[in-house]
Amino acid sequence: MIFGRVKPLDAILATAEKKGLQRSLGAFQLTMLGIGAVIGTGIFVLTSEAAQKAGPGMMLSFIVAGFVCAVAALCYSELASMVPVAGSAYTYTYAVMGELLAWMVGWALILEYAVGASAVAVGWSGYVVGQFQNQLGITLPAALVNGPYAGGVINLPAVLVSLLVTWLLVVGTTESARFNAVLVCIKVAALTLFIALAVPVAQKEHFEPFMPTGFTGVMGAAASIFFAYVGFDAVSTAAEETKNPQRNVPIGLIGSLLFCTVFYLLVSVGAIGSPLGAQPVRDAAGTLLDPGTTELAARCKAIVAGGALEPLSCSREALAHVLRTIGWVKVGNLIGLAATLALPSVVLMMMFGQTRVFFTMARDGLLPEKLASVHPKYHTPHVVTIVTGIAATLAAAFLPVGKLADYSNSGTLFAFAMVGVSVLVLRRTDPGRRRPFRTPLVGIVAPLAIAGCVYLYVSLPWAAILVLPVWGAIGLLIYFGYSRKRSYVGRGIIDTLDDPHMQPEVARPLH
Ligand code: ALA
Repeated sequence: MIFGRVKPLDAILATAEKKGLQRSLGAFQLTMLGIGAVIGTGIFVLTSEAAQKAGPGMMLSFIVAGFVCAVAALCYSELASMVPVAGSAYTYTYAVMGELLAWMVGWALILEYAVGASAVAVGWSGYVVGQFQNQLGITLPAALVNGPYAGGVINLPAVLVSLLVTWLLVVGTTESARFNAVLVCIKVAALTLFIALAVPVAQKEHFEPFMPTGFTGVMGAAASIFFAYVGFDAVSTAAEETKNPQRNVPIGLIGSLLFCTVFYLLVSVGAIGSPLGAQPVRDAAGTLLDPGTTELAARCKAIVAGGALEPLSCSREALAHVLRTIGWVKVGNLIGLAATLALPSVVLMMMFGQTRVFFTMARDGLLPEKLASVHPKYHTPHVVTIVTGIAATLAAAFLPVGKLADYSNSGTLFAFAMVGVSVLVLRRTDPGRRRPFRTPLVGIVAPLAIAGCVYLYVSLPWAAILVLPVWGAIGLLIYFGYSRKRSYVGRGIIDTLDDPHMQPEVARPLH
């Protein structure tokens, strides 16, 4: 039963052909798309989290997480070029391993995108609060800019940006490639400036001890910082709009990942080498404190009250804080401004990804069609967007950025591992099918991707590990209670695409 109800690949491909989107994206535009979706809260904010978990060893964490993403990206590319339709990992699994596993992947992708969007919103909040403080001299009330985990009541800036993005998506705002390119330039310029100013003055002695929390700490940080690379799947889902996907999709995927890994490494060198260092904060007894806890927040407060510099692990606007510490106050503020301008577009990308997955699942009959209904004036899936927006807003209001990123990662890692499995299965079950892009050394690369995802998953904190099975169990209840009997494939209906509004891709011109 597990592998039953496979959606025939030919039907999916016929669907894709019907849509006939123009192939206009080249390798450069794809790489820009990837970088636009990838650089965000991960590097601008979670660098502090990584320092708390791994100390200077976070450099290794960036490499490990980047490597796992690269092998997963190679698997993604093969399926994306063969099955170039919306829904990414969900659709691939449907075609290869059947409805039940596809449902589980789609369900996990909700975690990736919706919770990921809230993580980025909370990350953005830290920079906005810093901007008010440092540019305008206004201290926003702590109770209104922090969740209960940091002694506050609600994170209002995070709520506002989530609601704003929801509204933008409802009225039909999608990011154009040109706008994306501007934001990519802002982000890359900010990181370049940071590297140019911080790396030359980095002090060697701050890299010692290099791994204060050992190998486990480094892997724990890798599992969290994995979030900094999430988003490259945007490149795969644009496969059907790509000229010569065989060449350009892998260049776009690997190119954007490589670019980000090099930047992330250099940024971490600059952050670690500053007078702040990157040693984890411990309590008075020398015990390591977990990120996102009231204990850490209280300890950070005490350190600052004692007149010492705020440690890297405590900062909510890590990169700006480092630059201010090494004497570049104005440039630090400027980088804060760059993050403030650019991060909302990452929230938008993530929420959009969520609506796309929901849409595809509803189109397959697995979720109520009402959810995928389209607004008469704006032609957007307003119901699903509002539902997603409310859920993301609530999470952003009350939870810390690191926890949200970890929860999001647990869903993403599951989906990526399933993509690795799908590639291997499809090579066996359908070896003769045309593969515009073939994963090189698939016998090594796909198992590495699967093993890497599993390893990172078990390296997450306990709560995040548990989120996946609990979320999965809720998903199974819904599947067996509702979706299974309504599924189009289950009822023998293969193609339901006559209504163009049920094709999420048409809502998103990339050029
Ligand atoms: N990779 C994206 C970020 O770091 C999700 O914000």
